[in-house]
Amino acid sequence: TAGRPLAGRRAVVTAGPTFEPIDPVRGLTNRSSGKQGYAIAAALAERGAEVTLVSGPVALAVPPGVNRVSVETAVQMQAAVEAVLSDPAGPADIAVMSAAVADWRIDTVAGGKIKKAPGGPPTFSLIENPDILAGVSAPGPLRPALVVGFAAETTDLEANARAKLSRKGCDWIVGNDVSADVFGAEANAVTLFRRDGTTQTWARQSKTAVAQALADRIADHFNA
Ligand code: C5P
Repeated sequence: TAGRPLAGRRAVVTAGPTFEPIDPVRGLTNRSSGKQGYAIAAALAERGAEVTLVSGPVALAVPPGVNRVSVETAVQMQAAVEAVLSDPAGPADIAVMSAAVADWRIDTVAGGKIKKAPGGPPTFSLIENPDILAGVSAPGPLRPALVVGFAAETTDLEANARAKLSRKGCDWIVGNDVSADVFGAEANAVTLFRRDGTTQTWARQSKTAVAQALADRIADHFNA
């Protein structure tokens, strides 16, 4: 129906930061609030999609009609996304990867709280986290029909977004100008870059409005 243009479609959305433990009480994380991803999950659900929201630690309520899976680390986020993609209910149609996944994790997590010691502060070595978006975008039977990534950039938004499109293998990139205050803020200025070369720019507007606009473009894509 007109009001539910994504009825029968399955979507997976990632949102929020990841938290990478150092020891049982400490960790590495970032300032992502999860607001944009939660708003996208809500907008897709409002349009009739069956939405699983794989969320890092945030202080946000689950949007109506959305199934949330809460995770902490990038490795857990990747496993939760893969579980959605291999659901016996069938392939997901839509993936929107808006999480601010930590690029690195501590390679050996201490089993107990690390103590201050006379020898000075500890040193940690980092290892790279899996790129969830690149994995989801890889060709294969589980690849969603439409994979959307985000690019938060302070300079050269178009060039960086286009490079990210080809490097990650996704279909669309939502380019996010973060030179202005965005993290945790209510508003967002974005441009949508598509693999076919078309772009669409939305004036700085609320994260809810950005999510509505993106969900409308997604619905158009499936109902063209
Ligand atoms: O490479 P960069 O982190 O700038 O790319 C951002 C995009 O890739 C976002 O869509 C983000 O959710 C996704 N990403 C991911 N897994 C990572 C790093 C980024 O899914 N490890």
